[in-house]
Amino acid sequence: MRDFTFYAPTRVMFGQESVSQTGELIRAAGGRRVLLHYGGGSAVKSGLLDQVCRCLAKAGVSWVALGGVRPNPRLSLVREGIALGRKEQVDFVLAVGGGSVIDSAKAIAYGLAAEEDRDVWDFYARRAQATACLPLGAVVTIAAAGSECSASSVITSDQTGEKRGYSSDLARCRFAIMDPALTCTLPPYQTACGCTDIMMHMMERYFHPGGTLALCSDGMTEALLRAMLFHTRRVMADPMDLDARGEIMWMGTLAHNDLLQCGNGSRGDWACHQLQHELGGRYDGTHGAGLAAIWPAWARYVCSSDPARFAAFARRVMGVEESEDSAAALAGIDAFTAFLREIGMPVTLGELGLSLSEEDILALARGCSFQGTRTVGTIRPLDEADMAQVYRLAR
Ligand code: NZQ
Ligand code: ZN
Repeated sequence: MRDFTFYAPTRVMFGQESVSQTGELIRAAGGRRVLLHYGGGSAVKSGLLDQVCRCLAKAGVSWVALGGVRPNPRLSLVREGIALGRKEQVDFVLAVGGGSVIDSAKAIAYGLAAEEDRDVWDFYARRAQATACLPLGAVVTIAAAGSECSASSVITSDQTGEKRGYSSDLARCRFAIMDPALTCTLPPYQTACGCTDIMMHMMERYFHPGGTLALCSDGMTEALLRAMLFHTRRVMADPMDLDARGEIMWMGTLAHNDLLQCGNGSRGDWACHQLQHELGGRYDGTHGAGLAAIWPAWARYVCSSDPARFAAFARRVMGVEESEDSAAALAGIDAFTAFLREIGMPVTLGELGLSLSEEDILALARGCSFQGTRTVGTIRPLDEADMAQVYRLAR
C-alpha cells in the first residue's frame, strides 16, 4: 500500500425526509442568503423546489433562485449566476439537482469568491487556480456523477464547445442531502446512464497501473461493482424499488469521493472520461451513455497493457471462469458490454446516435489531446493518434 491523503469533509444526510434539514444545515454553515440553483424543471414538477423553499423560510434563510441548468452545464449560465449572486449579495450556494446543477453551483461559488475581474473560465482553462470558494451544499436528485462529495466540477464553454473539469477541495460541498425517494421520478434511460457513470467511476480507479490487486481498495471496488450489477438490474426492473435506489445512491457517492483510490499510488486511468468529455462538449448528450459507447473500444484497445488486471475484473466482477489471462480479459470485456446493452446503453458511437467521419474523429482527438500537448490514461497512456484510434474502434 502506498501513502495517501484522504479528505472527505462533506456531511451526508442520507434517507427519507432528509430534505427537511436543508435550512438548518445552511444556517450551521453560516449561510443567511442563498443562491438556489436548479435544472430544467424536474425539481419544480416534483414539488421538491417548493419543499426546499419552505424549509429555507422556516430556518430564516432568504434566497434568490436561478434555474435552467442543462446537462453538460454551460458557462453562460454560470456567469449569469455569478452576476446575480453578486447583485443579491448571497453568502451560500445551494444546488438542487444532479451533477450538472452541482457543478454549475461549484463554478458560481468559485466566481463569487474570486476578485471581480477574474473570469471563472480561467480555472477550467487551466490559466489560474482558485484560492477561495463560497460555501455550498446539495440536495441530490440523481445517483450518477457523485459531484456531491467530489472535488471536481465540469463546465462547457458555449462559445468553443470545450468541456473542461476543474478540481479543488475548496469546492467540496458542506453537506449533501440524499433521499433515495427523490430519484424515483427518473426516466429509465437517465437511471441507466447514472448507474453506468457510477460504475465507470469505480472502474476508472480500478484500472490503474502497477497495482498489486490487493484486497483493500481493489476488493472494495470489486464488491461495489458486483453490488452495482445486482442493484442496477433490480432498479431497471422496478423503478420504485427504494432499497435498490438507496444502495445505488450511496454507491454513487462512494464511487467518487476518492475512497476507492486510497493506497493505489495513482488516481486511476480516466481516459474514458476524457474521451467522453470531448464528445459531450461537441455533440452534447448524456455523460453516462457516452462513457458506455466508448468503454468497450477503449478496453479492447488497452487490455493487452495489463491482462492480469483485466482478467481479475473479468473473474471477480463478471464471473468469468476462463483460466488464461488474455482470454479471460476479453471475455470480461464482452460480459460487461453485454450488461451495458441489457440496461439499454449504447455500446458504440453509432448507437449513441453519432455518425462520425474521419475528419470528425481527427478533430475529437485533436481537442481531447489539447492540440497534441497531453496524453490521457495511465494503464496505457493514449496520445492523439491513440485517441483517434479508440474513437475509430468505437464507431
Ligand atoms: O434538469 P432537470 O429537469 O432536473 O432534468 C435532469 C437532467 O435532464 C434529470 N433529472 C435529474 N434528477 C431527476 C431528473 N429527472 C427526473 N427526476 C429526477 N429526480 O436528469 C437529467 C440529467 O441530469 P444531470 O444533472 O445532467 O445528471 P448527472 O448527475 O449525470 O450529471 C452529469 C454531469 O456531471 C458531470 C458530467 O460530465 C455531466 O456534465 N460529471 C461531474 C463529475 C463531478 N463533478 O465530480 C464527475 C462525473 O464524471 C461527470 O463528469
Ligand atoms: Zn463520470
